[in-house]
Amino acid sequence: MTRELPGTEIPTAAILLPTDEMCAAVDGFLAASPAARAWDVETAFDWDRAAADRLTEGQRSAVQFVTYIEDHLPGYFDVYQRYFPVDGRVDQDTFVHNRELYHFTVRWALEEDTHARALARYQQAAGMAERSTLRDELAVEGRKPFDLPYRHPVQFFAYALVQEKATQLYYQSLREVSGDPVLAAVLSRLARDEARHFSFMADVVGRYLRTQGDAVVEPIREVVAGFRMPLADTMRGYWRWALRIADVADYDHTAAYAHLVRIIDRAVDTRTEPLDELVRFLDRCRALT
Ligand SMILES: [Fe+2]
Ligand SMILES: [Fe+2]
Repeated sequence: MTRELPGTEIPTAAILLPTDEMCAAVDGFLAASPAARAWDVETAFDWDRAAADRLTEGQRSAVQFVTYIEDHLPGYFDVYQRYFPVDGRVDQDTFVHNRELYHFTVRWALEEDTHARALARYQQAAGMAERSTLRDELAVEGRKPFDLPYRHPVQFFAYALVQEKATQLYYQSLREVSGDPVLAAVLSRLARDEARHFSFMADVVGRYLRTQGDAVVEPIREVVAGFRMPLADTMRGYWRWALRIADVADYDHTAAYAHLVRIIDRAVDTRTEPLDELVRFLDRCRALT
């Protein structure tokens, strides 16, 4: 999907993070993700021991739900291609920035694709789903569009920061209650990856705060104010399902806001008035839940 969406523009170097800053963030992510610590679906787990009858019905439902979310990777990956293109649609400076970011994006996409495969494999191995039925079900949601129609580049990273942290915390709490050790092992791997993805997003948002200061405050506030988990607007029965999975294990995306406050405080020596206002807003969002 490469359509241009109304009201959205490709960010240019004028508002992007300086390329050296993006480069440092990407290098940091890749240094924290050495090949020796990588894992694969084929060998990392004892699939023969997977048994869905050890899970409650709610836990099985949670596994199905997060499989849908992870399986939508082509849609998420496409957002980066549309807003940070690596082709002739952008000028030289923008290209150079986007090319550096691409080193992150492809690695991240490989990891997320592995999450989708691991969860689907679990469903088959544990006796929850037939492979062909599952792939047809996933395709129904997978074909639906995904977009983040943001106006400032920091917003894509602020959105992903909240989403990655929320997902990490959910996997950790689902792992705690999981009756099947094989599922627990899968969730441990996933949570560790999400934690690294979050760290990259946190690093990038911190760098935007340091280099652009108050100019990124309102864009970040907009992301928090309008936050929806991926697929919330398109997936059949999303809200009913989301409430149900929150019953099974703690799920609360506002838990990520405390981390955002910490990133703000690490990025600046003293909070400006707009930053103070943003932190008060984040605290109010947390208090509401
Ligand atoms: Fe993931
Ligand atoms: Fe992730």
